[in-house]
Amino acid sequence: MDLLKLDYNHMMTEFVGPAGISPADLAALDAQAKDAVLAMKTKRAEGKIDWRDLPHNQNNIIEDILSYVAEVKDDFDAFVVLGIGGSALGPIAVQQAINHPYYNELPREKRGGYPKLYVADNVDPERLVYLFDTIDITKCLFNCISKSGSTSETMSQFMIIKEMLEERLPKEEVKKHIVCTTDKEKGNLIRIAKEEGYKTFFIPSGVGGRFSELTPVGLLPAAMCGIDIKALLLGAAVMDERSNEEDWQKNPAFLYGALHYIAMKQGKNMSVMMPYADSLKYISDWYAQLWAESLGKKYDLDGNVVQVGQTPVKALGVTDQHSQVQLYTEGPFDKVIVLLGVEEFKETITIPKTYQDIPSLGFLGGVTQNQLIQTEQMATEYALLKSGKPNMTITLPRVNEFTLGQLLYFFEVATAFAGELLHINTFDQPGVEEGKNATYAMFGRPGYEEKKRELDARPAKKAAYQL
Ligand code: PA5
Repeated sequence: MDLLKLDYNHMMTEFVGPAGISPADLAALDAQAKDAVLAMKTKRAEGKIDWRDLPHNQNNIIEDILSYVAEVKDDFDAFVVLGIGGSALGPIAVQQAINHPYYNELPREKRGGYPKLYVADNVDPERLVYLFDTIDITKCLFNCISKSGSTSETMSQFMIIKEMLEERLPKEEVKKHIVCTTDKEKGNLIRIAKEEGYKTFFIPSGVGGRFSELTPVGLLPAAMCGIDIKALLLGAAVMDERSNEEDWQKNPAFLYGALHYIAMKQGKNMSVMMPYADSLKYISDWYAQLWAESLGKKYDLDGNVVQVGQTPVKALGVTDQHSQVQLYTEGPFDKVIVLLGVEEFKETITIPKTYQDIPSLGFLGGVTQNQLIQTEQMATEYALLKSGKPNMTITLPRVNEFTLGQLLYFFEVATAFAGELLHINTFDQPGVEEGKNATYAMFGRPGYEEKKRELDARPAKKAAYQL
């Protein structure tokens, strides 16, 4: 079976010296980690972390998604996701990991007959207008994804596109071009979907945005692009089983969370995610949100000000060897570097023996690019080791739905475990709300008058500090 592997040798003092983690550090965490294991188990039993059960309880949903995809996929040139944050990063990461990197540019038959995929997340007006230059909206299916149904970015795009569809298509046709993914009961989007008769998929109420990739948030866009969502969930189920291991030092996801927790306590306030595969590049974006929004918290569960968290840094091997690795090796001891490698790529390409007479190029002749990327990964690992920088390696035997399901679930469990150790609420995001509320207030949204007054009372900027 293709299983995810975690190698944390180079997190240990034995290898990287004083910046690492010692067996005594692990032993000192044992009681706290055992409490965290128990807390996770109890929360699951009490139905407080519903995302844990997603690999097992969605048979009907999968059938609904697959039959919907089979019914509509031939009717559209493109499937366009309207969503942001947890409603966009997962769909992008999974699409990029599994499908051809130039998927949209391939002829339809090479896409298995599936539509193109676009994800419109930001509200940059140029981007949306340029998307309209690229697609014929009358041949697109728009998937509006919003758990809350009130996210300004997503709902503004939805309103723009709905109006455009209404201008171009008969009223009865419009609803065939919209599918909504939202909460079953709460929020504007479910109300709109019911009133206007859109096909709807649901996000379980107990599953928050950044933990929702394995719900229809991610499953529908994936299936619409021919990705095997059953295999994705099977991979997650396998990782769930591994994550049920109660000995935290034998549980890869718990250990990942624990090692990062100890490192955080030792002042490593950054978590670098560096895949050595283009297919996994966007996993770093998804991970960045998961890690940052879940663990970056001002208060602990007892209301103490703790201001914890680790800044996620996105990097790509080997590209960022020529950009960031200088800092990682010679800069401060303030980060944990995670190398994410792949044993077997989908393709092999051999470098020709073109310049055998030039020693500094000749050594490349006959070597595959597969060997080159993997050797460079090992070389970076060595450079980090030599400079005493804690790092670990996650390896996927190959990138497919089954291993990707493991990887996503692994990071979710690891994040939740780190949150337990930090004794924080992993699943809220009050810091995001502040910015959202300030936006509402500036636009004069009813109910935000007090916030508007608060904003208006902020110190005026000084001309002296402006050039
Ligand atoms: O993780 C989260 O909760 C957020 O990133 C949300 O996914 C994001 O803000 C979008 O929210 P919604 O799905 O309600 O539109």
